[in-house]
Amino acid sequence: MKVDFYRHPLSKSDAAAIAGVLDTPFLTTGKVCASVERQLEEYFGVPYAIMVNSWTNGAFAVLLALDLQPDDEVIVPAMTFIATANVVVLAGGTPVFVDVDPGTLLMMPHAVEKAISSRTRAIIPVHLYGQMCDMRGIQDVVHRACSYARRPIIIEDCAHCFEGTREAYRPGRHSDVAIFSFYATKNVTCGEGGAAIFNSEELYQSTLESRSHGMSALAIDRFSNGRYNHWDMNRLGTKANLPDLLAALLPQQIATIDDRLPERKRLADRYRAAFKGGPLRLVDQIDTTVSAEHLFAIGIGNDARDVAIARLNEAGVGVTVNYRSVPELHFYRRQLERSDNAWPVAKRWGNETLSLPLFPGLCEAEQDYVIATVKRAVYPLAAS
Ligand SMILES: Cc1ncc(COP(=O)(O)O)c(C=O)c1O
Repeated sequence: MKVDFYRHPLSKSDAAAIAGVLDTPFLTTGKVCASVERQLEEYFGVPYAIMVNSWTNGAFAVLLALDLQPDDEVIVPAMTFIATANVVVLAGGTPVFVDVDPGTLLMMPHAVEKAISSRTRAIIPVHLYGQMCDMRGIQDVVHRACSYARRPIIIEDCAHCFEGTREAYRPGRHSDVAIFSFYATKNVTCGEGGAAIFNSEELYQSTLESRSHGMSALAIDRFSNGRYNHWDMNRLGTKANLPDLLAALLPQQIATIDDRLPERKRLADRYRAAFKGGPLRLVDQIDTTVSAEHLFAIGIGNDARDVAIARLNEAGVGVTVNYRSVPELHFYRRQLERSDNAWPVAKRWGNETLSLPLFPGLCEAEQDYVIATVKRAVYPLAAS
């Protein structure tokens, strides 16, 4: 049997939404994006949303809007996808890595408290695998740091968590901005894309500009009222806007995302039940959290992870690694000049973890095959 790591939920029926955009004269950021923005504002209960063409470019636009200087620090977790840290470097700031909780792999308020200083401009908690960080706790740490001349802003990395909650709050509740990814494998996808939701009008307005080269008007507004309107450039920006052609794939997925979560949860629970009591390390589930169940990561418990990947691939099971510890990667090792053990939890997990197939549409026979293959091929490695 062959079980892909991921199969997207889109089908030919979604082509009608794209055809609808082709029928209009406007392909890029326009009315469809505007309507998805209203949909997101309503779903998350926030005043402002902006569609972007990836999480990465959305976060880059937000950080450009902050006008980061080289001494400005941004606190990021060591266990995340590289994009979380890379955008800080791209925007001219300095990432400060903090280690994560050994059970949940999430950034913890006490780690932020230790790392925060008058140089901190922003903090990027990452809702890894679908479980939200303690946003209330992180916001309290920031409030306690209010004596600094500039309050650090909180940017939630929600690439793994669209529909999850913690203590019943959603992303965007305890932060200045929360950024989503609609990349091909995400729970909501349009191939490449993303969105940022804001509580602060000031940050929203400046990101609206930095998303489009710092221009004061979007293309759709430059040609409104049947005539050409001049625009000005107020700040340096990037090109991070999402075309309507891709945004057209989103409204239906957003409308049904909560109905699709039980299926993800059922599959994740089946894995958890099957591996309970076995030699693998599983991610701790927080009682007060409804996980978006984006990824199902397991830990082998030793350095046999790459042998495990080879065995699973040989048996036709698609797997990935989410993630190796970011400060251990060559680029950051060269930059950081820190001792090897500064982020021991992220380093250990990054050396031992791999992720198994998890997506609505994974059928029980396929999942049973993955479970049986893990037990046959990976358990002996994990136990040794
Ligand atoms: C935790 C995390 N942050 C950021 C990103 C970047 O998202 P995008 O590909 O939309 O730029 C990803 C993508 O996989 C991610 O997993």
